[in-house]
Amino acid sequence: MTAARFEPVGRTRYATGAILLHWIIALAIVAQVSLAWRFGDDHSPTGFALTQLHKSIGITVLLLSVVRLAWRLFNPPPPEPVGLATAEKIASSVVHWAFYIIMIGMPLTGWIMVSASKTQIPTLLFGVVPWPNIPGIGDLAPAAKHAWSKFGHQSHSALAWGFYGLFVLHVAGALKHQFFDRETPILSRMAPGAVPGRWFDPRLLLIALAVLGAFAFGKFVNPPHPASGPPPAEAAPAQAFLPETPAAPAAAEPTAAAATPAPAVTGPVAWKVAPGSSLNFETKWSGDPVKGRFDSWKAEILFGPDALDKSKVTVTIDMTSAKTGDEQRDASLPSGDWFDAATHPKAVFTATKFEKKGEGAYVAHGTLEMRGVKKPLDLPFKLKIVGDKAQMSGETSLDRTLFGVGQGEFTATDQVPAKVAIRVQVNAQTTGTGDKR
Ligand code: HEM
Ligand code: HEM
Repeated sequence: MTAARFEPVGRTRYATGAILLHWIIALAIVAQVSLAWRFGDDHSPTGFALTQLHKSIGITVLLLSVVRLAWRLFNPPPPEPVGLATAEKIASSVVHWAFYIIMIGMPLTGWIMVSASKTQIPTLLFGVVPWPNIPGIGDLAPAAKHAWSKFGHQSHSALAWGFYGLFVLHVAGALKHQFFDRETPILSRMAPGAVPGRWFDPRLLLIALAVLGAFAFGKFVNPPHPASGPPPAEAAPAQAFLPETPAAPAAAEPTAAAATPAPAVTGPVAWKVAPGSSLNFETKWSGDPVKGRFDSWKAEILFGPDALDKSKVTVTIDMTSAKTGDEQRDASLPSGDWFDAATHPKAVFTATKFEKKGEGAYVAHGTLEMRGVKKPLDLPFKLKIVGDKAQMSGETSLDRTLFGVGQGEFTATDQVPAKVAIRVQVNAQTTGTGDKR
């Protein structure tokens, strides 16, 4: 070998922008992998938050990689050091282009997977920037959607394995030249100033620490969990709806004192739901309480304390209107995994049998039809009527699994229990029309 052989030809390192992008993308991908190893089958709020972070970093990698590739096409890398064996040139070139396929293919296949997912959870990059699903995939027939989802999963997973192999080859190549082939400096092209042959080069140490740091970030980061209420409906105190009467201690707390002799209501009368009414539910997600409410529902009420046999209540609930204080979770609730609101937009509770349980206390024996399944449901409630106004509050619970709410992995009750508590608060006013049916 002659000295001239090792003379660098032209530029000896990548442009600063290319170097910056290389390290940002590399570290982001390392963090992506350790994040993905963690969220696996975790459907808890933590798993959900980690997946959101994985999507956010992944889409960022996609955008940066497209910029990097476009730039690369117009700005060739610095000429290779003289003395590099042809096999090495080919190998490094293959690894680099395969890396570009990974850098763009991984996020693309992830994006396909998410776009074809049954749950259709919207992507909010870093909890702030809305990112669309790939247009068209979400509207496909279930079979075609499933095929895309499978393709996304399988190719994401295959590319991940490709990445592991390439990473080893790539790092081994860089280190081989750094430690053993000092005549053909490679690391210094991407880490300017690295001195070939120097084992304890500060740049090497920095790279090792940064890669470890990125891995540790993915392993230990604890992104904020989705909010779990309480929803505004509960936050707002039930206002004094009933007019004050000497016998009524507190309007919000209907009690036995509801036996106020005031009501002039004897037969079943029609009642109209008034402001201050709410339909809330409460469950848990991996131990965290989740409070929710339905924002849109209506009730047809025909009720008279002395005409229970002729009373009838029908409550119709818009299943797309559930709010739990987290936008992304709320967007997934109407999906096929939960309420399947596209096929069953409404749930209907009908009660035609009422039983008096004490002064101002009743039980409505009814049925709830939800997600196409009809099951009996009793609603114990307290009622206070003053003049033409009434206030009722009721509480019951149901088993969501009986209605098929929670499909796939959500049929298991370890993350979301089967029992869901329901709380109803109704302010009502007579319409003055009596029995309309
Ligand atoms: C996820 C991790 C990584 C990815 C995806 C990645 C990707 C790439 C790509 C695509 C290139 C070619 C740039 C071009 O010519 O356009 C490149 C070059 C380079 N990378 Fe990485 N890299 C990663 C990690 C690393 C690590 C950990 C090291 C150091 C130990 C490293 C050292 C280098 C060096 C020295 C070059 C220049 C090679 C040459 O000029 O022949 N890379 N990398
Ligand atoms: C550079 C970008 C990315 C890398 C390196 C990456 C890496 C990984 C890895 C290693 C896994 C585990 C795969 C397995 O072992 O089966 C994974 C899973 C996953 N990734 Fe990514 N990913 C990237 C981008 C994305 C993007 C952009 C999205 C969505 C928009 C995404 C969504 C997912 C999902 C949903 C899973 C779980 C798959 C499952 O349930 O089996 N990824 N990712």
